[in-house]
Amino acid sequence: MKISYAGICGSDLHIYHGSHPFVKYPRVIGHEFAGVIEAVGDGVSASRIGQRVSVDPVVSCGHCYPCSIGRSNICHNLQVVGVHREGGFSEFCCVPDSLAYNVPDNINAPAAAMVEPFSIAANMLNRTGASARDVALVYGAGPIGLTVVQVLKGVYGVKKLIVADRLDSRLKGALENGADVVVNNSEKELASWLQEQGIAPTLVIDAACHPSIFAEATQIAAPAGRIGLMGFPAETSSVVQRFLNAKELTVYASRLNNKLFPTVIDWMASGKIQPHKLISHRFDFHDIKQALNLFETNPMACCKVLLQFDEE
Ligand code: NAI
Ligand code: MN
Ligand code: ZN
Repeated sequence: MKISYAGICGSDLHIYHGSHPFVKYPRVIGHEFAGVIEAVGDGVSASRIGQRVSVDPVVSCGHCYPCSIGRSNICHNLQVVGVHREGGFSEFCCVPDSLAYNVPDNINAPAAAMVEPFSIAANMLNRTGASARDVALVYGAGPIGLTVVQVLKGVYGVKKLIVADRLDSRLKGALENGADVVVNNSEKELASWLQEQGIAPTLVIDAACHPSIFAEATQIAAPAGRIGLMGFPAETSSVVQRFLNAKELTVYASRLNNKLFPTVIDWMASGKIQPHKLISHRFDFHDIKQALNLFETNPMACCKVLLQFDEE
């Protein structure tokens, strides 16, 4: 495929700096990308040439235990495009036919590169479930937290949506993307603030991913609440099991996405989510150093930074 746009993600910086645990170098980075099919290999219909596609980076083996029970995103032999194999920060990329999803005309090229980040939110919320009965609390209003916010409001229509972050600039973004209430939890102690407001969240999503958050989530969640953890901290969380059992809480972890590209593409095509709201910058791919540098050194100024390879 010929790439049109690719998004920069936090994990790309680790790969760039050589500090990612799974990557063998040299490696072409990029797992959030879209473009147009230029040529096909053996066994792939030539009718695919010219199709506009967004690429699911999750490559699974199809025969291990998780694959056999329909959980291919946590395949034993998982390969992620842009991590374990060559990715989308390139003018051309070769991907498996089955992972190149057609994109309708009303989703433009930059939006098509946003399907992957929204698939992260889609997978988390597919696991926890969400409904109009939920009072949801999202920790962290970075790019991932904001995709969760958009999906909770635009797709699931939760009753109330609260976002906690430690930065006011990020909370402003949360309000722009659908949060009903925001709280700066570096200024206010979150548990007591929620109690004062009479809010007991039925769904808590941690998209900030500090290990202290899991423990706090068990404390503030309503009985029968669900907790969704998005992050990968290696440090210990000191969870008090009593809260889990006394309230019969359910904890969900989520990684990448389990074949949810068609779902996200439908949400975009029908206007339930607004990818353009999350795109803060576009750089020509020749300026990738500047783009990575901006994303790394001034995260407050950025949400999703896209590299442009070709205007379809
Ligand atoms: P980010 O760093 O841009 O955003 C995190 C936000 O959380 C920031 O706005 C920060 O101010 C806020 N924050 C930090 N500590 C906080 C606290 N104690 N309370 C409230 N807010 C706090 O990161 P991004 O790109 O949005 O990613 C978020 C997390 O999602 C990362 O940990 C990343 O590893 C994870 N992730 C998980 C994926 C998955 O497949 N499950 C895929 C992609 C990212
Ligand atoms: Mn990403
Ligand atoms: Zn497998």
